[in-house]
Amino acid sequence: MAEFAVANRAIPAYLQTPLQVGSLTLHSRVLQSPLAGISDRSFRQLVRRSAPQSLIFAEMAHAGLQLEGRDRWQFLPSEQPIGAQLFGHQPEVLAAAAQQAEAAGAVCIDLNMGCPVNKVTRKRGGSALLQEPELAIAIVQAVAAVVRIPVTVKTRLGWEQVTILDFARQLEDAGAQLLTLHARSRSQGYSGQADWRWIARVKSLLSIPVIANGDINSPADAIACLQQTSADGVMCGRGSLGNPGLVGAIDRYLQTGALTPELTLRDRLQLAREHLLLLWEDKGVAGLLQARKHLSWYLADQPDHQDLRQQLLRSENLSQSLDLLDAAIATENLLA
Ligand SMILES: Cc1cc2nc3c(=O)[nH]c(=O)nc-3n(C[C@H](O)[C@H](O)[C@H](O)COP(=O)(O)O)c2cc1C
Repeated sequence: MAEFAVANRAIPAYLQTPLQVGSLTLHSRVLQSPLAGISDRSFRQLVRRSAPQSLIFAEMAHAGLQLEGRDRWQFLPSEQPIGAQLFGHQPEVLAAAAQQAEAAGAVCIDLNMGCPVNKVTRKRGGSALLQEPELAIAIVQAVAAVVRIPVTVKTRLGWEQVTILDFARQLEDAGAQLLTLHARSRSQGYSGQADWRWIARVKSLLSIPVIANGDINSPADAIACLQQTSADGVMCGRGSLGNPGLVGAIDRYLQTGALTPELTLRDRLQLAREHLLLLWEDKGVAGLLQARKHLSWYLADQPDHQDLRQQLLRSENLSQSLDLLDAAIATENLLA
């Protein structure tokens, strides 16, 4: 397959081929990241609409709480391919939770070794495992020993210093079948620029697929990152907030070279309305509260609609929010 050039960017031919992750074949090289408090079924449904083949992750789950049955996984056939992400620090607990996720229909188990939040790291989970590589390895081995689906790891460059080169090799040797690298250290949190140069270095060291993550917010970012790193694919995170079509737009670009038009204000309002209704149907009043942040994201960067944004944030019930959105949509229709 020949390379083809779009907008002065050559799209490497390997990006149009399936990605093999152990026994799992992915027909898209663009993934949606797990986002705690965000990537619930409603969000995933909107992402899936334009990205039918992308791997999407459910919200990160605490392995211990999952085993206690506080949450029940239920991955519907329409959600496939969907992965489960777990965090924790006890290999046997993570292994048992992984078996549950496999039984619930997850296509892979992703182990979180990157979350910087104190609540998680205090309990030796998430990015704290960067400081305990032996424990991290024991976790990968324990999980890989009990599930048939691939075990993947999502991590960062290091805790403070960059330690990923050794760590990545160890994870691969332990049985990880894909590594997603968020190119920031734990101490950077979400600030500063992701340093994709480390992704290129890790990619050159490993045989398993490496997925690039951090600051990939457009097709142009994706192709720049892939050209710089030769990574096997990309994962989007915050760029999908208020723009759940981002993964699909990048996938379409990498597969065909076609660029998807930017969302209009009308598109944003329609998406906000749909998202609100999905959350309401799925979670009732709790969903309405969660909808606030999404509504706010849909209207971010819309200087003329900050009043509407504020009104939506203050809205007390579904019909009030729908009235506000419907009135704004009607105005946009008149202007169209
Ligand atoms: C609100 C929020 C929640 C997140 N939750 C998770 C999570 O549960 N698991 C995970 O691996 N990463 C999580 N992340 C990190 C993202 O998946 C991603 O690695 C990071 O935001 C960098 O990518 P980006 O620059 O595309 O956003 C979260 C990030 C944010 C902002």
